[in-house]
Amino acid sequence: MKTILITGASSGIGKATAQFFHQKGWGVAATMRTPEKEQDLKPDDRLLLLKLDVQDKETITDAVQETINHFGQIDVVLNNAGYGAAGPLEAGTEEQIRRQFEVNLFGVIDVTRAVLPHFREKKSGRFINVTSIGGLITLPLFSLYHATKWGLEGFTEALQYELNPLGIELKIVEPGGVNTDFAGRSLDMFDTSQVPEYVPTVQRMLQNFSEDSGRSFGYSSSEDIAEVIFQAATDESGQLRFIAGEDAKQFWQARQNMPYEDFRAMIKEQMLG
Ligand SMILES: NC(=O)c1ccc[n+]([C@@H]2O[C@H](COP(=O)([O-])OP(=O)(O)OC[C@H]3O[C@@H](n4cnc5c(N)ncnc54)[C@H](OP(=O)(O)O)[C@@H]3O)[C@@H](O)[C@H]2O)c1
Repeated sequence: MKTILITGASSGIGKATAQFFHQKGWGVAATMRTPEKEQDLKPDDRLLLLKLDVQDKETITDAVQETINHFGQIDVVLNNAGYGAAGPLEAGTEEQIRRQFEVNLFGVIDVTRAVLPHFREKKSGRFINVTSIGGLITLPLFSLYHATKWGLEGFTEALQYELNPLGIELKIVEPGGVNTDFAGRSLDMFDTSQVPEYVPTVQRMLQNFSEDSGRSFGYSSSEDIAEVIFQAATDESGQLRFIAGEDAKQFWQARQNMPYEDFRAMIKEQMLG
């Protein structure tokens, strides 16, 4: 039986992916910060609910070990846990800035390092890292989020050169907008009250993240993204990047087809115009 360990399986893409792989007959270690609160995922022989906070190394090593003890091995790790810090750089606190990197980037690095000895020993395994179309392009007011996702893109692309010879593969899944808790409870909005100069920019951007604009941009569902993750998990072609969602594909096509300065002008016009 193939086995996947998923971080951030309490909601959104992580939860949908846990359900999708379970339906496909895989063994699933659905890990999350508070498994005791989980209502939808029901543990069984093929579904483990485990505590894993990517900011807490002990929970990472414990969850990895428990998964190996239960299933005998891990085949795929989905580094999915992540959230968006949003707002003008000046408005973010030191803690907010550091946490964005701790979760989105160092969290992935720590999970990867915890699983690598196991993959190296069995000479196989696959990491799938969820970045974002925001790992390839940028939007206003997400400088820190983009820094983590662009960082994760570079980390993953570089790492495959050293891990492929050991039989270990890496994949990147880059979703566009997805209807999850990302733009709700998971969004860490900075307080702009001390820097009112940025308020007009913030207000224009907020409109773009309202439910209506989400629909008109053609957001994906978590289930759509889970299907792309399954494709990445079972891909035998060596493809590294999987852009997920029509909006993301359109963004990327525009970025490739337009002169760079025109693309930047288009983003400015669409987001802040
Ligand atoms: N939704 C989008 O539009 C979109 C687009 C592109 C990329 N993405 C990426 O997709 C991934 C999943 O996001 P989502 O859209 O599914 O949003 P979501 O529903 O808010 O899920 C985020 C998940 O990350 C978990 N998480 C946050 N901090 C964590 C930590 N320290 N340790 C472990 N888990 C932690 C959350 O757990 P709790 O329940 O405990 O908070 C939750 O399970 C993220 O990496 C995000 O950047 C999302």
